[in-house]
Amino acid sequence: MLNNVEETLDPADWEATRALAHRMVDEAVEHLAQVRERPEWTPMPDDVRARLKTSLPTDPAPLDEVYGEYREAVAAYPMGNIHPRFWGWYMGSSNFTSALGDFLAAVDGSNLGGGNTGAAQVEQQVVDWLKEIAGFPKSASGTLTSGGSMANLVAHTVIRNLAAGFDVRKEGIASLKKPLRFYASDQVHSCHQKALEVLGLGAKALVEVASDDHQRIRLDALAAAIAQDRANGLQPACVIGTAGTTNTGAIDDFTAIADLCDREGLWFHVDGCIGGVLRLAPDHAHLVAGIERAGSVAIDPHKWLHTPFEAGAVLIKDPEAHFAIFEMHGPYLQLQERGMIAGKFLADYGLELSRGFCALKIWMAFKEQGSAKFGRLISKDIALARYMANQIEAHPLLELFAPVDLNIVCFRHVAMDENASSALNTEITLRLQERGLAVPSDTTVQGKHGLRCAFNNHRTRREDIDGFLKDVVQIAQEIILEPVS
Ligand SMILES: Cc1ncc(COP(=O)(O)O)c(C=O)c1O
Repeated sequence: MLNNVEETLDPADWEATRALAHRMVDEAVEHLAQVRERPEWTPMPDDVRARLKTSLPTDPAPLDEVYGEYREAVAAYPMGNIHPRFWGWYMGSSNFTSALGDFLAAVDGSNLGGGNTGAAQVEQQVVDWLKEIAGFPKSASGTLTSGGSMANLVAHTVIRNLAAGFDVRKEGIASLKKPLRFYASDQVHSCHQKALEVLGLGAKALVEVASDDHQRIRLDALAAAIAQDRANGLQPACVIGTAGTTNTGAIDDFTAIADLCDREGLWFHVDGCIGGVLRLAPDHAHLVAGIERAGSVAIDPHKWLHTPFEAGAVLIKDPEAHFAIFEMHGPYLQLQERGMIAGKFLADYGLELSRGFCALKIWMAFKEQGSAKFGRLISKDIALARYMANQIEAHPLLELFAPVDLNIVCFRHVAMDENASSALNTEITLRLQERGLAVPSDTTVQGKHGLRCAFNNHRTRREDIDGFLKDVVQIAQEIILEPVS
């Protein structure tokens, strides 16, 4: 029989949908309000995993059933980065206002590729706010991206094309007269190598310069590498400074790098994915002095601004070049002076055409909390890292293995000799995670391996750190006493 009903994805019963949606909000609030009481992380059992491997559903199911399945099989096994004892790798810890923003953005449904919409105005306002935070002029261009990797890729594309000195869009990189070189410390995030590989410059275009004992780029080694490359017929193009390295939170000397770039005629880019927002905290703003002299900066709101994933941003001080490098319009997408498509076309500043309204979640959180609060939270995280470092320094069985200059603490248990130490500390890390006690990650700094805690979590309290260190010592003791199998 022919189905002559004109179907839609809208619910047949809006009132029932409203009631269910209210229940979802109630349960989401409950979930957040009780986050501290739950285990930090719970491994997913095989039978639950199997439920998520069934094939494409052709037939419908009531939304409350789908929601029930989500609660049982998905929501019960989160990463836990919203939990107060999550300090692994480098994540933000999200916030409820921005979660509401994500929901409202999806309901609004606008495509931020362009369009004469309120959403497009909000994105441009958020980009302007990020310029204020980084000390960039309003005349700079910028765009929100999915994250820091994409933000750095956009910047490196602009830098590559400007350094080439010809129309790379038309000619391609095969026409480069000299191989380009980008310089960064040996602590630089791996996304830079990936970006240069994708841009066709090759991994060797990234010159990793030795860092000092605080993991900051060594300026003498940087100057020597640039001179050597010039002598070898290569073309130095850019120095990447990092505002908070992922491993230890080191911040390069931006004033010195900016001076060097001025002297050498190089572009200065800052990877500020972690610390690009430090100027929000007046007591720590001096750490990034000189960031405002960079030609471009990448900032990750989904890190220290606690925007739920995803949200990155890049700011560029050459708006004409930025536009010229990405602008592209098919015959089906011509701009007009009036109507829906009038105004700045946001996709002309990056790689993606269709883009989500991720600005709303940042905009709402800044409006509700005020930027000063974000600054205070940054200061609190740095104070927590210092607090933990002091506890570790006072403990006979624990040792820091990297300086704590920002919000990252690298430490290890020292009960075993150097050879066994790495295995012991890895086992401590994994047991902490598997028991749902806390999520640190692990890392190696100058040959020493151990636990790493990145304090980037607005829910963490000192008592979390006290309990965690007790757990570390107790688990180590338990491992040491276990019979060797
Ligand atoms: C310093 C730094 N740069 C870039 C990135 C990549 O950012 P994303 O994960 O948002 O792509 C990270 C991620 O942790 C980072 O710490």
